[in-house]
Amino acid sequence: MKKHVVLYKKLSAPLMDRLRDQVEVTLIESLDKGGLAHLRDTLPDAQGLLGASLRLDAELLDLAPRLEAVASVSVGVDNYDIDYLTRRGILLSNTPDVLTETTADTGFALILATARRVVELANMVRAGNWNQNIGALHFGSDVHGKTLGIIGMGRIGEALAQRGHFGFGMPVIYHSQSPKPAVEQRFAAEYRSLPDLLKEADFVCLTLPLTKQTQGLIGAKEFMQMGPETIFINISRGKVVDEAALVQALQQQTIRAAGLDVFEREPLAHDSPLLRLNNVVATPHIGSATHETREAMARCAVDNLLAALAGKRPQNLVNESAWQP
Ligand code: DGY
Repeated sequence: MKKHVVLYKKLSAPLMDRLRDQVEVTLIESLDKGGLAHLRDTLPDAQGLLGASLRLDAELLDLAPRLEAVASVSVGVDNYDIDYLTRRGILLSNTPDVLTETTADTGFALILATARRVVELANMVRAGNWNQNIGALHFGSDVHGKTLGIIGMGRIGEALAQRGHFGFGMPVIYHSQSPKPAVEQRFAAEYRSLPDLLKEADFVCLTLPLTKQTQGLIGAKEFMQMGPETIFINISRGKVVDEAALVQALQQQTIRAAGLDVFEREPLAHDSPLLRLNNVVATPHIGSATHETREAMARCAVDNLLAALAGKRPQNLVNESAWQP
């Protein structure tokens, strides 16, 4: 008999066909109130789950006694209670690698947009306020040759370093759990303690996952260690930053600008003080959001799920200790 998979993310027709060939599929079209109620109804029978952007906690997963595998269409796994999944022997997989370059592109888009004030000045033109040649009041700052500081030198951090080093001639400094000699060699990158990086970098870029250790890593003290010309970029998770402290640093101009793709709460509240600041470029968590990359992520998640349900080790298994060969 075919196993039962619940999707809470719509897939392309070829991927749907592939799944339906091998498993029974229930699709939850959206995660609104009705969709969530439908999801809860389907959980008692589900052996596989596939989706993203939903907090799957013990309360929800207790409704799914037959669950064998969860395939997340994301690299970040902060939406999952991994200890709980592991205790129950449920295999959790994610989609690393396929989104690395696209997410680094997003990081660089934010670096360029903030430094050159692209959004603010484009809005000025659109509003019909370009009435004379621009002057120093509208100048931005250079990106090429400036110091790129990367916090969290994983795959995405490396892809950012590659762009900065080879594309923009930027000296790269980084902070991570431990020094990475191979990265240092490839990008002439230098390791720094966190306070030293915050002091030295022109661009402070967060690319690290949200964990108990990284939650709130950048707060008032850390913003004070940055300089008035520092541009802060976050493409990791909003909760790595104390958002109130960030707002204060931007309002008081103790840092120059921020390019933010992620927020403490998403979607960002319409009345967030961040949206009243000209020196903020805010995007709606678009890190990996291109047609090509989202399809590659979905394909990867389907591969992971089908492998797990067939009793094989999924390629991108997150909770190794749940795996029983
Ligand atoms: C990820 O894959 O974790 C990205 O942030 C998209 O959600």
